[in-house]
Amino acid sequence: MNYFEKLFSLAGKTALVTGGSSGIGRMIVEGLVMAGAHVLIVSRKREACEQTADEINAIGAPGHARSFPADISTQDGVASLVAATKSEFEALDILVNNAGRTWGASFDSFPYDAWDRVLSVNLTAMFTLIQGLLPLLKAGARAEDPSRVINLGSIVGSQPLGNNAYSYAASKAGVHHITRILANELAASHVTVNALAPGPFESRMMAFATSDAARRARLIASVPLGRLGIPSDIAAALLYLCGAGGSYVSGAVLPIDGGKHVSIPTGASDDE
Ligand SMILES: NC(=O)c1ccc[n+]([C@@H]2O[C@H](COP(=O)([O-])OP(=O)(O)OC[C@H]3O[C@@H](n4cnc5c(N)ncnc54)[C@H](OP(=O)(O)O)[C@@H]3O)[C@@H](O)[C@H]2O)c1
Repeated sequence: MNYFEKLFSLAGKTALVTGGSSGIGRMIVEGLVMAGAHVLIVSRKREACEQTADEINAIGAPGHARSFPADISTQDGVASLVAATKSEFEALDILVNNAGRTWGASFDSFPYDAWDRVLSVNLTAMFTLIQGLLPLLKAGARAEDPSRVINLGSIVGSQPLGNNAYSYAASKAGVHHITRILANELAASHVTVNALAPGPFESRMMAFATSDAARRARLIASVPLGRLGIPSDIAAALLYLCGAGGSYVSGAVLPIDGGKHVSIPTGASDDE
């Protein structure tokens, strides 16, 4: 094993990635498979999970991706996913809570339902999945090589950039906070809990802001480093937190946002 493999190899590790069929989740799955992990791709659409798994497996990376569809927006959906995982695996090394949804409407018309619809996936499912899969996460965890939970937060979870996505922004602030709480509570079980807080990346969720040329230009101009995020920005951060090199890090909320979280907002910008 060379020096880089010692720090970042995930050979022999099993990972589950919610929302792994598209966007940032797909970037995460690819990074994990490139590092040698066996990765379960969870999302509602079976065909999308299968297609992503096939495409990633065709790269010829040392790891392997597999379709593992589930809808995590309900208590029963999360329970079925937990049961399906437990029926096949005795241990889980990496859990990435990435599935997410958003809702945009003006303050005056923001619907009551848009709170539960967003929080159920972004926050409730994240918490409940960690709760349900904890026995598997604990099973293979050791002090020198803890199991890892990575939650997807957002820059809007740290900065008051509402941009009409009120329940989404609140859900992401909740993700950051629960990440710190669980990092503290699960440390004794040798499970680290960290969050990634991305700025703007191209994805289905962000298509409303990136497909229109003028909006896209405004979005890019809002990022101090002057570009949108790319897959290696996510994959490298993830491999750091999941590899040997990240085994002493817990409770971190890592901004991956081109410096946006330290910029001073000068006006309205599209949200992430
Ligand atoms: N893109 C950005 O700029 C950005 C910035 C900051 C944070 N984030 C966060 O990054 C994460 C990924 O977002 P993205 O931008 O990559 O969006 P995306 O392309 O829309 O991906 C969302 C994923 O979640 C899955 N999903 C949605 N509802 C689900 C459910 N009920 N059960 C299971 N899976 C479900 C979707 O697949 P199905 O439709 O098949 O279920 C899809 O794979 C989210 O947590 C988002 O908040 C994104």
